[in-house]
Amino acid sequence: LDDLLGEGVSGRRVFVRADLNVPFDKANPGVISDDGRARAVLPTLIALRDAGARVIVASHLGRPKGAPDPKFSLSPVATRLGELLGSPVVFATDTVGESAAAAVSSLEDGQVLLLENLRFNEGETSKDDAVRGAFADELAKFADFYVDDAFGAVHRKHASVYDVPARLPHYAGGLVVKEVEVLRKVSETPEKPYVVVLGGSKVSDKLAVIQALLPKVDKLLVGGGMCFTFLKAQGHEVGKSLLEEEMVATCRQLLAEAGDRLVLPVDVVAATEFSAEADHDISDISEIPADRLGLDIGPKSTELFASAIAGAKTVFWNGPMGVFELAPFAAGTRGVAEAITKIDGFSVVGGGDSAAAVRTLGLDESAFGHISTGGGASLEYLEGKTLPGVAALEK
Ligand code: 3PG
Repeated sequence: LDDLLGEGVSGRRVFVRADLNVPFDKANPGVISDDGRARAVLPTLIALRDAGARVIVASHLGRPKGAPDPKFSLSPVATRLGELLGSPVVFATDTVGESAAAAVSSLEDGQVLLLENLRFNEGETSKDDAVRGAFADELAKFADFYVDDAFGAVHRKHASVYDVPARLPHYAGGLVVKEVEVLRKVSETPEKPYVVVLGGSKVSDKLAVIQALLPKVDKLLVGGGMCFTFLKAQGHEVGKSLLEEEMVATCRQLLAEAGDRLVLPVDVVAATEFSAEADHDISDISEIPADRLGLDIGPKSTELFASAIAGAKTVFWNGPMGVFELAPFAAGTRGVAEAITKIDGFSVVGGGDSAAAVRTLGLDESAFGHISTGGGASLEYLEGKTLPGVAALEK
């Protein structure tokens, strides 16, 4: 981005791919519950706006099925972005249709425009290169330059991430640069001891990253819903807890390979149902009642994880330890997060739910080394995969 700004962008049209895929409050539709991703792209938007560029911002939101769906409109995000920028954001009610074309052509120097959800057009996510290419052609017509600052989406081979940069002079935004630098350091030269904390619901989603990380880490701490498949593989009964039966054998093999590097909870908070009002109690992992489900790691596990984290020089954390959105099941995530803030080393929070947990639980964001905006993207980076959005910028 600095290179582009150095060339001068006054009066030029700059297409900025941002990741404005923000979570909404379930109880209050239209109310953004965590605007961290919108805040993260502000420096890029402000720099371009203040340099007099005509800024065309585009993003996806959720997973609509390639057609307009009001549930996934970016309209509330345009309003929020305007508040954060301190200047109104023009909103186009389509992506490459009449509204967008008119808004782009009447854009003034230093104005910011947000297009409607890119995924309202099937060309955005299509696996067919020609279909994606046709949509990318339309988007590219709007601009003179392309800037990718959507780190959260760089692992997607989508039109706005992969194909538009092939059609325009392209640049990495400051957020993408920072994220890639941090993850490169953590994955190539982590200062030891290196501790990874993984949570979240499914082992199947994390299998590849576990396999890639095991040879590199000193400890891999596993909590969240995914720990129950590992506990089952260890021979424990897990009651009604989340279980991926078909992954049990794989987990058994991983446990054997990892030895004492893979650390599992020793107790859990087990509840009668998935509800903040449910009757709940702490159970040792060998005594999870058949009619209960584990919704958080227990206090002994939190202590065990915290002591493994305490000596680390590098920590990467992805995925909550429990259902932190419900107060009775937030203590494990809070305890682990607090332990991470205290290390005498460098910590990275790997996006998505864990970044939202940091903010929702009111933890001090500045106490972490880096809070990534990309959950899936940072995991795929650590897996060693080529990220299409980064590859497109490197060409
Ligand atoms: C994310 O939330 O991880 C990014 O915005 C990407 O969203 P996606 O998984 O729907 O592609």
